Amino acid sequence: MSNPLSPSWLSKPDDANALREGVWPGSAVRNTEGELVFGGVPASELISAYGSPAYVVDQEELELRAKHFHNIVTRACERNATVGHVYYASKALITGHVVQWVSGQGLGFDVASGGEMAIALAGGAPASSLEFQGNNKSESEITAALEAGVGCIVIDAPIEAERIDSIAGSMGMVAPVMVRVNTGVHADTHEYLATAREDQKFGLSPAETAKLVAVIRGSKNLHFEGLHSHIGSQIFQVEGFLEAGTRLIALYRELLEDGPVATINLGGGFGIAYTEADDPMELGAMVDQIVDHVAFEASKYGIPLPALAFEPGRVIAGPAGVTLYSVGVTKPVVVHDDQGSEATRLYVSVDGGMSDNARPALYHASYSARIASRESEAEPALVRVVGKHCESGDIVVSEEYLPGDVAPGDVLAVPTTGAYCYSLSSNYNALGRPPMIGVRDGRHFLMVAGESIDDVLARDQGFSVKAGS
Ligand SMILES: Cc1ncc(COP(=O)(O)O)c(C=O)c1O
Repeated sequence: MSNPLSPSWLSKPDDANALREGVWPGSAVRNTEGELVFGGVPASELISAYGSPAYVVDQEELELRAKHFHNIVTRACERNATVGHVYYASKALITGHVVQWVSGQGLGFDVASGGEMAIALAGGAPASSLEFQGNNKSESEITAALEAGVGCIVIDAPIEAERIDSIAGSMGMVAPVMVRVNTGVHADTHEYLATAREDQKFGLSPAETAKLVAVIRGSKNLHFEGLHSHIGSQIFQVEGFLEAGTRLIALYRELLEDGPVATINLGGGFGIAYTEADDPMELGAMVDQIVDHVAFEASKYGIPLPALAFEPGRVIAGPAGVTLYSVGVTKPVVVHDDQGSEATRLYVSVDGGMSDNARPALYHASYSARIASRESEAEPALVRVVGKHCESGDIVVSEEYLPGDVAPGDVLAVPTTGAYCYSLSSNYNALGRPPMIGVRDGRHFLMVAGESIDDVLARDQGFSVKAGS
């Protein structure tokens, strides 16, 4: 029987060692000893080589996902007689290795800060394959982007157009720019809202965009490249993209009357399964429908389809990552309901938490988990995997069934942590960030060094200061 504290979407598994399809990297299997193996490397080998906790990234899974996205966009665009581009949203996960793997599959990069741009360039991405985004780019970031020769800068406000105009002018350059449109469509997982979402920091309304495009076209230092839109994240259904496409094509048609519009970028936001409750639409079908719909809208007006671009992040990096933790403490907690009946939830405390994965605390994001170091026949128990931080919201996996004998010393693996975990990590409670390890074909390698307490201390300039000085 399921634990009454279990949410309705979570079923008690027959086998709490089994790996749910679509949630784990393709290479994740149990070996004959029952231990989880990633990219051919047993979890215990990774922990003994790099310590715990550790981010693990399956290189092949990430590359296959990048390649697949590129292929489906290319195919759908070719079928509609236009060109498709894919810019990997580097905010999901960017490191030197990731840049090489992603650019090796023909993708460009959406970078949202000078730091992300620096990593993409240092990793060898051609500057022309970069799109520089963000709602508050500094003058030095704009200058660096223009010096590097980025493919385009996505403008988020009229004041930015003035700033880029002036910087490009002083450098004797013409800056390629797009304008981010707030189509008024907001999509989030299962739902989309077609009503205006004006009250937010990103983008300009279609009417404001049209005015700004006229200004850009009037500047000798700016070259208008097209329109950009991003409607949300972790989107499971296509409808929001279709509605945004309809609105973008209407604006595109209006803008075409006064000059060329080379590209429409439809953004990212494609959802992935974190738990058994998640059932995103198949990616190929989703991209096909979006591209076909945009082509149909353009054909209704008898206008040519521009080049189309997408900016996926999570769907490429998310399922390629797994975080390994070690269990330190377990504690059954008895919970009473209003009717006086009671049920027990087993709290499993691990050696990381909201500092390496802020998403549960930030968005109540759900994850799943398995014991990585062994298989167990013990009756599945409802557990909550929690971190070691001083916050009761420091939850790693809010609800999961694990073998009831889960115990200190076990290694736990939490899948789908490739996106927005390392990117959002912190030093809360003065914990060092975990290392990131790449795995492939039985090999493991350090992608990003972990931080020791010495690393955390090294940035603090106060230790040599005498009291009172
Ligand atoms: C402008 C823009 N593009 C792309 C993305 C990537 O979204 P996702 O990782 O959900 O695909 C984001 C995410 O916030 C974004 O803000």
